[in-house]
Amino acid sequence: MSEVPVLGMQVDDEIQLRLVEERHADEYYALIDSNRGYLREWMGWVDRETSAESLKEFIHRRLLQFAHSQGLPLGIWYQGKLAGVISFNYIDYVLRKADIGYWLDARLQGRGIMTRACRALIELGFGEYGLNKIEIRCAVGNRPSRAIPERLGFQQEGILRANEWLYDRYVDMVVYGMLASEWRERGEAGG
Ligand SMILES: CC(C)(COP(=O)(O)OP(=O)(O)OC[C@H]1O[C@@H](n2cnc3c(N)ncnc32)[C@H](O)[C@@H]1OP(=O)(O)O)[C@@H](O)C(=O)NCCC(=O)NCCS
Repeated sequence: MSEVPVLGMQVDDEIQLRLVEERHADEYYALIDSNRGYLREWMGWVDRETSAESLKEFIHRRLLQFAHSQGLPLGIWYQGKLAGVISFNYIDYVLRKADIGYWLDARLQGRGIMTRACRALIELGFGEYGLNKIEIRCAVGNRPSRAIPERLGFQQEGILRANEWLYDRYVDMVVYGMLASEWRERGEAGG
């Protein structure tokens, strides 16, 4: 048993979502470092993370955002090891809306880990957090990422042109949305 209490939730037998804290920085940095080339294809921040120390500052900022009820940064622990990240990048309690971002260890793709983690976070958002809408934004060319909201029944709402800078080019992004009423109608909560 760990000495420090775990702040998180069990998704199923294999997956646990936990608040990412500064004490996780070494493990978190090692995961980024072993996935640089792959993450760089679709994530613009990879080159900025150059050490566990600088990552601590990022974690700290995300925890402050969490403390202000403006975000929820979670790590995905798969079979007891950190396997990726999923977050509410922002939460807007006035509009009762949030935006999900995620990435996963390349070696652990293809097992439904992110879809399962996403489903649990959406459930938390519409349930405990009382949200009305959840968005997921993916680069148009990022098929594996787009497959997640599509698999979960999100509607494609539009294309944001030149919405993200990836090292040497802008990319268009697809916005997917799910409303609380649609989620309940789909009965996703149960299955
Ligand atoms: C985007 C990303 C998380 C997708 O990973 P992924 O492994 O394809 O997604 P999941 O973990 O949900 O797994 C889905 C796959 O597992 C399969 N699967 C197995 N068991 C499953 C289950 N219980 N539920 C759902 N899918 C399951 C699916 O069929 C699918 O396989 P397919 O790709 O052959 O169709 C990953 O590619 C990534 O991190 N990429 C780099 C960073 C990135 O692009 N982030 C997103 C930025 S918007």
